[in-house]
Amino acid sequence: MIYLDNAATTFPKPQSVSREVNSALTRYGANPGRAGHDMAMKAGKMIYDCRVKLSKLFNVQSEENIVFTLNCTHGINFVLKGLLKPGDHVVISDLEHNSVTRPLKAMEKRGVTFTQAEVYENDNDKTVESFRRAINGSTRLIACTHASNVWGLRLPIERLAALAHEYGIEIMVDAAQSAGVVPIDFADSGIDYLCMPGHKGLYGPSGTGVMIARNPDNLTPLMQGGTGSSSISNEHPDFMPDKFECGTANVIGIAGLLRGVEFVTSKTLDKIFRHEMSLIKTLYKGLEKNKNVQLYTHYPNDKCYAPLLSFNIKDKDSEAVAAYLNKDYGIAVRAGLHCAPSAHIKMGTQESGAVRVSPSVFTTEYEIQRLINAINKIK
Ligand code: ALA
Repeated sequence: MIYLDNAATTFPKPQSVSREVNSALTRYGANPGRAGHDMAMKAGKMIYDCRVKLSKLFNVQSEENIVFTLNCTHGINFVLKGLLKPGDHVVISDLEHNSVTRPLKAMEKRGVTFTQAEVYENDNDKTVESFRRAINGSTRLIACTHASNVWGLRLPIERLAALAHEYGIEIMVDAAQSAGVVPIDFADSGIDYLCMPGHKGLYGPSGTGVMIARNPDNLTPLMQGGTGSSSISNEHPDFMPDKFECGTANVIGIAGLLRGVEFVTSKTLDKIFRHEMSLIKTLYKGLEKNKNVQLYTHYPNDKCYAPLLSFNIKDKDSEAVAAYLNKDYGIAVRAGLHCAPSAHIKMGTQESGAVRVSPSVFTTEYEIQRLINAINKIK
């Protein structure tokens, strides 16, 4: 199979990831922080190593501010529900995934409101101004994606962080499509909360995610329970990372994530980004020659786009095109709405959906060429 659905989950994973998962399962996967025996200590050390490696990759000054979550959505819920109070207002973009819009919609019942700011393709000045216009006296947070999971459009997150701080508010960034692909310098960026999956650009197993908090004191934890620390007290600890991590950790998943983070670090983000962008540029050029293909974005440049591309074949349903690519050519892509209805409404594709292609570091030019040839055969 030619796997081009890496924006949903990267596949394959590096061999070092599978080996470490196997090793955790068969050699040391005890319960970290709950005992002093060798296996528990080894599992605890592995989790600490993963925190340290993540802090280096994202330039986070204190590794305790890195919280392991189940996925990106889990981290986003930690931030939105841990921070916002009745009467608070949030500014989001018109490209958000349901991971941001659904929690906010549910929180409307608790008196939280939100406004969508328009993102302008290739015009960061206009995008920043549209966020500025959406801020009002009750705004507490900007919550936005770093890169659209449908159109690949990237938001100027550092400028949006500066804007948030100009108004004395905070910013949460959903790095679902950018973590491990587009460099993010947490310390310098001004981002207050950064949420990401472990199973996409970081090449870890599913069931892993990360939430990084600059100001963890501002968040109320959503859960309380066993942490292996301060056990005599029936008050949940308020120190990091235990404040947000309770119950047995996903040792097996984090073991794989550790190797995934090492893999990305050794490849370097710069090379990964250039490789994937070059594939998307090849795809764009291949598709724009085809009169039956409808493209929605401009030719992707390195400044304003992440490496993924969605398109449609005129008069064809996106799901039908994806099914044809799967059945006749063994090519895996994702069609439909990608859990991001507002991103589709923005481009008028809420009925048809779109066919999304998302490469990984393992994708080759040859595979992209095979995809272009398959699309060119569709009448
Ligand atoms: N959010 C993931 C995607 O875009 C699952 O496919």
